[in-house]
Amino acid sequence: MTSLDELPLRPELRGRTPYGAPQLQVTHRLNTNENPHPLPAELLASLGEALGHAALELNRYPDRDAVALRTDLAAYLSRGGDRVEPAQVWAANGSNEVLQQLLQAFGGAGRTALGFTPSYSMHPIISAGTGTGWVDGHRRADFTIDAEAAVAQVREVRPDVVFVTSPNNPTGTAVALETIERLYDATEGVVVVDEAYAEFARTGTPSALGLLPGRARLVVSRTMSKAFGMAGLRLGYLAADPAVVDAVQLVRLPYHLSSLTQAAARAALAHTDALLATVDAVKEQRDRIVAALPSLGLTSVPSDANFVLFGRFADASAAWKALLAHDVLVRDVGIPGWLRVTAGTPAETDAFLTALGEVAPEHRLGD
Ligand SMILES: Cc1ncc(COP(=O)(O)O)c(C=O)c1O
Repeated sequence: MTSLDELPLRPELRGRTPYGAPQLQVTHRLNTNENPHPLPAELLASLGEALGHAALELNRYPDRDAVALRTDLAAYLSRGGDRVEPAQVWAANGSNEVLQQLLQAFGGAGRTALGFTPSYSMHPIISAGTGTGWVDGHRRADFTIDAEAAVAQVREVRPDVVFVTSPNNPTGTAVALETIERLYDATEGVVVVDEAYAEFARTGTPSALGLLPGRARLVVSRTMSKAFGMAGLRLGYLAADPAVVDAVQLVRLPYHLSSLTQAAARAALAHTDALLATVDAVKEQRDRIVAALPSLGLTSVPSDANFVLFGRFADASAAWKALLAHDVLVRDVGIPGWLRVTAGTPAETDAFLTALGEVAPEHRLGD
């Protein structure tokens, strides 16, 4: 067996581990923030039809610029009240690929990205993959971003790309628009607001889409993997100034988005209301989890997402294993004392809370 050390690997990739949320055979998989609700029957029928239609032209390359899909995505984003034009939208295979293209265009060798940790683990990983340096930004002990301190850090580091995850993964809380505005004003770099979980935000939590007019270096990234319940589709997208879309086109691979993906995403968007009908049900389960934790001697971080960071445990890894022994897979995100659980169906919440009731007395942090 050849080891990685024997290959002429880029030095900055040596010693790193790949992204690896465990994919275990467990009854209750609550570790990757998927939407557990099956796709509505009406969509399944349209998907079959749309894919059959697209298959007739599989001998041809897809629309390289995915114009029809971007038009549909712009219409979806505009539903929230902030007008978004198709020229402002770009789509790729999951928002991870969108982020990668942004780093290819605005990061790279000799450049730096900064994100406020703990946050989405792929931001530093994609930075490394694109040769972009990474700097950990600070958060308060309650995991919120102190705007003053964040601005000071951005002024000092002068990053080329600033990541703000809102709602933040893995902590769940959305970031105030005022903080994003201040960060934008403090940098000459690109500010990427990763809004993968935006649709789950609590009422009154605005999207950064409203900040786009007049801010050419601001990018909002979204995905169909979470609220739309289509993680298997691999469709992420961004909204920004059309110049940002021109920039990512310099680095995207030609025909990166297959005709089947484009057709399936468009069919799904035509059923947006039916797909998003599960969002309120998921939010209900999230709030149910949050409400139940104190009676188990546990607490949580305020969540605008479809997951809850809960704790505190004396040893989070031991608590994770104990929950797994009860057939419940949650995520150990490496924050001492805390674990993250995805809000799913009522039955999944029942199973999680029952298991946690067994596990908490032994594992929660003592007074
Ligand atoms: C904050 C955040 N951004 C982006 C993604 C990537 O989503 P996808 O590539 O499935 O669109 C995730 C997935 O977990 C996420 O949590």
